[in-house]
Amino acid sequence: MIPDSFIQELLGRVDIVDVVERYVPLRKAGINYSACCPFHSEKTPSFTVSPSKQFYHCFGCGAHGSAISFLMQHAGIGFIDAVEELAGSVGLQVPQETTRRVEHARKAPLTELMAQAMRFYRNQLKLAPHAVEYLKGRGLTGEIAARFGMGYAPDDWQGLQKVFSNYNDADLVECGLVIVNEQGRRYDRFRDRIMFPIFDQRSNVIGFGGRVLGAGEPKYLNSPETPLFEKGRELYGLTQARQGIRDSDTVIVVEGFMDVVALAQHGITNAVATLGTACTPHHVQKLLRQASRVVFCFDGDAAGRKAAWRALEASLEPLSDDKSVGFLFLPSEHDPDSFVRSEGPEEFGRQIKQPTPLTEFLLRELKSRLDLSNAEGRAHLVHEAKQYLNRLSAPILRVQLTKAIAEAAAMTQTEVEAQCGLKPPMRGRPPPPMRKRPTPRSIDHALLEIVARRPEWSARVPLDLIDSDQVEGAALLAIAHATEHGEIPAGGFGILLEFFRSSIHEPVFSALAASLAEEDDHSESLDAVFTDAVDRLRAAAVGREIRALTARAKQGLSATERQRLTELLALKHVTAAPSDNRPV
Ligand code: UTP
Ligand code: MN
Repeated sequence: MIPDSFIQELLGRVDIVDVVERYVPLRKAGINYSACCPFHSEKTPSFTVSPSKQFYHCFGCGAHGSAISFLMQHAGIGFIDAVEELAGSVGLQVPQETTRRVEHARKAPLTELMAQAMRFYRNQLKLAPHAVEYLKGRGLTGEIAARFGMGYAPDDWQGLQKVFSNYNDADLVECGLVIVNEQGRRYDRFRDRIMFPIFDQRSNVIGFGGRVLGAGEPKYLNSPETPLFEKGRELYGLTQARQGIRDSDTVIVVEGFMDVVALAQHGITNAVATLGTACTPHHVQKLLRQASRVVFCFDGDAAGRKAAWRALEASLEPLSDDKSVGFLFLPSEHDPDSFVRSEGPEEFGRQIKQPTPLTEFLLRELKSRLDLSNAEGRAHLVHEAKQYLNRLSAPILRVQLTKAIAEAAAMTQTEVEAQCGLKPPMRGRPPPPMRKRPTPRSIDHALLEIVARRPEWSARVPLDLIDSDQVEGAALLAIAHATEHGEIPAGGFGILLEFFRSSIHEPVFSALAASLAEEDDHSESLDAVFTDAVDRLRAAAVGREIRALTARAKQGLSATERQRLTELLALKHVTAAPSDNRPV
């Protein structure tokens, strides 16, 4: 865990404008900067960066966050990596747990060996006409081979001795380039193969796939799992596909190295491949961070269909309502490589634009296994659907799917929900009482918007009057609490976003980002609005108390209550009574 205090210090040090500008050309627009959004495709700029609040927001796609989340979203890297990168850029040292530091120290030399090996294989390709012929025969140009860093491992048991003077280096074994047999003899893992380097998100080589030229077993030989290479998380071609993914807001997932490379050869640059392993939720999560649409396009054979089903299962949890996952089923004789070569990139592109949506594939599969003409079959459908419905996290999509399943099973939506345990049964657990919220924006909400910009002002808010049952009120109280304990340094809204990341308050802060990005920074009027809101809060409380007391007046009030009522009525005269929008 990186301590929160470090995150705050880091965000205090970096300027989000510098960070964003490294990747996206910014134009000054009033007090903010604007640009075409790097997270979705657009022609007119709706992406703004606020130097005073240290956060960014896109009015088009809703992307927003601090300098840290910008790096995460833009480079598709994780939180820790983003923090490390930012810290490095301002010369700060991330306080690390020893294990992590040891791990890092362990990986660095291995990464260097892999990079040297890649350079060697690439040079060897130039010296191996038969390997070049093989690639040409598969329709690849030198340009594409270079783009993917492709190479050739010579037909030599110890070819790597030419690059590594210490061939006995244990690290060569550790990173999977060299194998030691039972007799202790060392030899190259990859011999006489076309080499596909696998890069991580920072463009380090972490593994290789090696294909035989022509026939032979195994067709592909891959690096083993090493400290650098964890197959269930990595995707082939992601580094090269990043721009294509961004431009199309779509990522195509295929099965093979060759599929990725062949698609790129035909100008389809947004494809990545899982590495001979099933697609995992990690993969899908990683992909959905970079694009709104993920389209799985597996081989048209039985194995491909099975892989598609596993990809569906891996997508249920990461999928959200603003994203989509679809499937393109190729004719059975094709894989994406052969399809694009025989049908052309236009046809492939057309098909990719209209994949089978996840829910349709799911329903079709479930139905195909059952006979829905009888009650048993229909019951079985709901029984089968239960686990998938429960794993699907996107709430709206889940309702849609529930409806579709209900229809197919000749049941009502409510019945399916009850049978699948999707909603707690009404009986024994009354619904929460309806809250009176006549105005869309409560006073708490107005105050929250201001305090989000000036956390230190929370000290001036009568916190006992804030309704902690409302999400805005709860968030406001959380800011006040953290400020009081000195946990939030000054530095703008970006700091708050980071501070409340992954807390129950995160959704409120995300919702706030849009309104904060829109407004100008007029501190004088802000103070007036703030004072007014606090007054209204007080007046509303007075009004509430008066109403409660007068309601009970018929039954008779005690002397103190009468006294209190007189005081309140006097108070009401000084504070202009606002429309009360809070529950009594
Ligand atoms: P395929 O057999 O579909 O290969 O395996 P391909 O991509 O179409 O290859 P070409 O066109 O014959 O050259 C798909 C993926 O499964 C993994 C590799 O990642 C491969 O790209 N695989 C396949 C292996 O790891 N080992 C194998 O022996 C075969
Ligand atoms: Mn193939």
